[in-house]
Amino acid sequence: MEAATEFVVESPDVIYSPDTIEAQYEYRTTSVSREGGILKVHPTSTRFTFRTARQVPRLGVMLVGWGGNNGSTLTAAVLANRLRLSWPTRTGRKEANYYGSLTQAGTVSLGLDAEGKEVFVPFSSLLPMVAPDDLVFDGWDISSLNLAEAMRRAQVLDWGLQEQLWPHMEAMRPRPSVYIPEFIAANQSARADNVIPGTRAQQLEQIRRDIRDFRSSAGLDKVIVLWTANTERFCEVIPGLNDTAENLLRTIQLGLEVSPSTLFAVASILEGCAFLNGSPQNTLVPGALELAWQRRVFVGGDDFKSGQTKVKSVLVDFLIGSGLKTMSIVSYNHLGNNDGQNLSAPPQFRSKEVSKSSVVDDMVHSNPVLYSPGEQPDHCVVIKYVPYVGDSKRALDEYTSELMLGGTNTLVLHNTCEDSLLAAPIMLDLALLTELCQRVSFCTDIDPDPQSFHPVLSLLGFLFKAPLAPPGSPVVNALFRQRSCIENILRACVGLPPQNHMLLEHKMERPGLKRVGPLATASPVLCKKGSVPTAPNGCTGDANGHSQAEAPQMPTT
Ligand SMILES: NC(=O)c1ccc[n+]([C@@H]2O[C@H](COP(=O)([O-])OP(=O)(O)OC[C@H]3O[C@@H](n4cnc5c(N)ncnc54)[C@H](O)[C@@H]3O)[C@@H](O)[C@H]2O)c1
Repeated sequence: MEAATEFVVESPDVIYSPDTIEAQYEYRTTSVSREGGILKVHPTSTRFTFRTARQVPRLGVMLVGWGGNNGSTLTAAVLANRLRLSWPTRTGRKEANYYGSLTQAGTVSLGLDAEGKEVFVPFSSLLPMVAPDDLVFDGWDISSLNLAEAMRRAQVLDWGLQEQLWPHMEAMRPRPSVYIPEFIAANQSARADNVIPGTRAQQLEQIRRDIRDFRSSAGLDKVIVLWTANTERFCEVIPGLNDTAENLLRTIQLGLEVSPSTLFAVASILEGCAFLNGSPQNTLVPGALELAWQRRVFVGGDDFKSGQTKVKSVLVDFLIGSGLKTMSIVSYNHLGNNDGQNLSAPPQFRSKEVSKSSVVDDMVHSNPVLYSPGEQPDHCVVIKYVPYVGDSKRALDEYTSELMLGGTNTLVLHNTCEDSLLAAPIMLDLALLTELCQRVSFCTDIDPDPQSFHPVLSLLGFLFKAPLAPPGSPVVNALFRQRSCIENILRACVGLPPQNHMLLEHKMERPGLKRVGPLATASPVLCKKGSVPTAPNGCTGDANGHSQAEAPQMPTT
């Protein structure tokens, strides 16, 4: 079906004004209490008023690690789309697109039309969002190569596309960055020819000046900063050093231990710019989170969820959700890009291993029938550097689950993925969704003062391997729950009910829902042989090769 691009919700609960979309929304939940061995479940309801500013800003994105594979690929992708480029390949011409982006290539179902067919619209049309072609890029890198040279070094894009992009990327040059050798692998030192000198405090000030300079020279309304530089080693959280905002700022002033990524996070927050961490290390130490809270600036992380982990967060959800007891998950990766080389050093690998390892926790905890308290599947992650495969990462996974009566089910997957072509659309979604969230405010019937989302923007969990959540909030890893969260919150902002997939109207003996169009007038037996109306689930009268029989007459009393 052709995707419509615009829609209007006609409801007394939704008001469109020139500046805002205001929607009333009944948030229905259930609270559960335990009394004397019995669970008591209470349906609850809170009325929300969502307000979304319609004016889309001119948005700039600053990438830390701009000259890396991900940074150069994202910049190239946006330029290729903006310029509507096409290029020859051995299988024919290819055209620029945004495949892999939830906002640009994903759709949502609005409901059923008069013929009972589902109507899908692009995800990006749910609410006014910045168009990716309009994004303006800038950034930092410890390597001084311009973006055209960086694109060539990355070896990600077809040669014909590189040739066309070259003149557009040649003038883009990363700003000098903060290089602290002990945080990334020693094998990266040869790249570091573009560094900010001085003390930590001076480096922080330079980053802040860079953000301000970009904002004013490019005439931007907003800037978002995204860390896509090398994976760093973990930073120890030490009381007095980085445990509070005050201590972290003092640590920077005194030149004590702080990672480059935390320095960038602090600079962004102080400049009022959202900061997103695409790598696994613990950039957002407690002091940085507290600073984000104090300044009410969005932060999100950690580690883009692009390949193996994404599959895992679907597959384990499917296995455990189906009642199979997954007992071991073994994941081997090999890759040959610079990320792989950096991860070949043990401290940096350790960061990645930690971020990859907790991805099934919520699914395991969700099923106390299969797992007793504290029980976990064995989970092992191995990453090897194999230069020849370049950016074309291989992920080999084995999932072993227990079946009924002592049976075993072993699933083996081999996934070859173009690492940076998976990461770039995720980076795009992160920037666009974060910006959108900055324009949404809401109040509730019990707290009428307008508020924003919590600065730890957990709504972005779909896009991160180890999603950050506000203190005390559950961490959700299951991919489709994460997607539903984004979709349903955006639907709520235009007064639409959550997507529930019940399709109750097709599960009834008698069609009791009031409908417009042919189905409303159809007889209780919907799929008669011969004249078969198309049902909203795509049913044509045949189900899996069986033509659907007339419904039996139900006894009447
Ligand atoms: N599918 C994916 O590509 C994927 C998925 C999840 C996470 N990541 C993470 O994204 C990050 C980037 O991946 P990549 O493939 O682009 O790696 P890359 O090595 O090609 O790029 C990293 C860039 O960061 C630069 N850099 C290093 N330290 C810096 C600093 N302090 N300041 C500024 N620049 C610095 C390097 O010079 C390099 O150009 C890695 O940490 C990786 O683990 C990637």
